Amino acid sequence: MDETVCGHVLEGVSFSAAVEGRCSVRRFLPEAVPRDHIRAMVACATRAANAGNAQCWQFVAVEDEATRRAMAAAVDTALDEVAAWPECAGRAADVKTVRAYATFFAAAPVVVAVCVLPYESRGDQLLRLRGLSREDHDRLRQRPDLQSIGAAVQLLCTAAHAMGYGSCWMTAPVIAAPAIEELLGVEADARLAAVVPVGRPAGRPRRGPRRPIDDVLEFR
Ligand SMILES: Cc1cc2nc3c(=O)[nH]c(=O)nc-3n(C[C@H](O)[C@H](O)[C@H](O)COP(=O)(O)O)c2cc1C
Repeated sequence: MDETVCGHVLEGVSFSAAVEGRCSVRRFLPEAVPRDHIRAMVACATRAANAGNAQCWQFVAVEDEATRRAMAAAVDTALDEVAAWPECAGRAADVKTVRAYATFFAAAPVVVAVCVLPYESRGDQLLRLRGLSREDHDRLRQRPDLQSIGAAVQLLCTAAHAMGYGSCWMTAPVIAAPAIEELLGVEADARLAAVVPVGRPAGRPRRGPRRPIDDVLEFR
């Protein structure tokens, strides 16, 4: 499936309506999402600007309910382990909040797991020669691989909204990355970067406020 499908499904949707109307949706109707709609959303995602056009992403659309439940169970297990750390004593309320924001994806009819594949630019290779620490390297590079994933996920969520679906960009489930990667059988060097539940919204989601433009934009 190529951009033609993406264009067909999204025909007539205005850019500003798609961008301004999107918001995070955390409750979904059980109605299935047709595969060609998922393909169109992911086709849009892959139009994202990305470092070196390496397209260092892999998308796994999880329709199977048992697999979605197993993914959420893996997140629960990972959070149980964190909650048992002595450092987290007395933080039960925080763990409960994180759990709520990390596991609701299982109830969506489809969950797109977004994985990042290894990416090393020429610039990375040059810096690597110097043997910089990870922190110093990242200070000079700021993870173009993960920035590429972010660009794709934003487009995926915006396309979903333009097609009448709700979605939520989630990284909290990444706490169970090793278990989820194994459950999904992704390539050995693919790393879970985000999880995006998609479905028709249950209820009317609310758009979050934004800081005024003059607070975030400066001219020099
Ligand atoms: C990188 C990233 C990670 C996020 N992870 C989660 C998450 O794990 N769980 C969740 O409920 N929302 C998550 N969100 C959604 C944000 O909470 C949401 O985008 C933010 O509150 C602004 O609201 P809006 O998306 O409705 O505009 C994430 C968003 C981003 C960009």
